[in-house]
Amino acid sequence: MRTFCVAVIVLSLLSVGQPAPLTCETLMKPRDTEGPDLTGRWFLLALSAEHCITTTLLDVLLRPIFVFDITSMDASNVYNSSIKITIDGHCFEESKMFFYKDNQMFEVDSNNTALGNASLFLYSGCPDCIVVKRTDMIKALILISRRKVVTAAELAEFETQARCLGWSKPQVLRAEHASENCRSYHDIPRQEDEAIMQRIHRKVSEKATSMREKIMKCFIEFWVFVYNTVS
Ligand SMILES: *[C@@H]1O[C@H](CO)[C@@H](O)[C@H](O)[C@H]1NC(C)=O
Ligand SMILES: *[C@@H]1O[C@H](CO)[C@@H](O)[C@H](O)[C@H]1NC(C)=O
Ligand SMILES: *[C@@H]1O[C@H](CO)[C@@H](O)[C@H](O)[C@H]1NC(C)=O
Repeated sequence: MRTFCVAVIVLSLLSVGQPAPLTCETLMKPRDTEGPDLTGRWFLLALSAEHCITTTLLDVLLRPIFVFDITSMDASNVYNSSIKITIDGHCFEESKMFFYKDNQMFEVDSNNTALGNASLFLYSGCPDCIVVKRTDMIKALILISRRKVVTAAELAEFETQARCLGWSKPQVLRAEHASENCRSYHDIPRQEDEAIMQRIHRKVSEKATSMREKIMKCFIEFWVFVYNTVS
């Protein structure tokens, strides 16, 4: 009997150290803590979408890297996000304005009028990450972090979140390869711009050729999805 009791105690102590796997119900909850301070730099680390088209396209487009530098504007809850996109070592920059409050985010125009649906911040076990669920035309789940790399466990949790939604396997983007020299594409001289575009175009074509089967499979899945939604 005593041995049994000891065994039970040891087992229960062991299970205390082992966190229970999180259920989809928990993983799909909105973030319950006060929203994070959004200002500063964030890295996009992984993306899942309702259709494999989006993640496959990111792959074909040489897995662009997205870095966000967010500043607050005069109007309360309005932010300016400068988005730096590195593709094949070239960095392009553009900016967008958004409104953020209570774990919901909308893109806004220059008059602070909301454009499109709100994106929601979901639960995340990662302390300096945000999991954003976009509910616009392109429905996507995005993992962003203050860090350029998250742990395997943090990434696995995000993959589970994508699975809970029944969405595509996340495409992981390598933020550590983001370029520091970013130029607005309006500032790139035309000739240089053409040379860059030609090189990117060639690499994208090669990538598309090498991924032919995957792309085909994804298109078929997509058409089945469209067929099932309209019929
Ligand atoms: C947003 O930030 C970018 C980059 O710093 C800047 O070029 C742009 O003018 C800003 N937009 C507004 C509306 O302040
Ligand atoms: C912002 O409002 C002004 C004045 O009402 C209008 O002229 C302008 O077109 C609006 N801008 C946008 C982007 O909707
Ligand atoms: C916005 O959200 C509503 C409700 O979830 C949805 O019915 C609508 O299709 C969404 N809009 C777009 C552009 O996806």
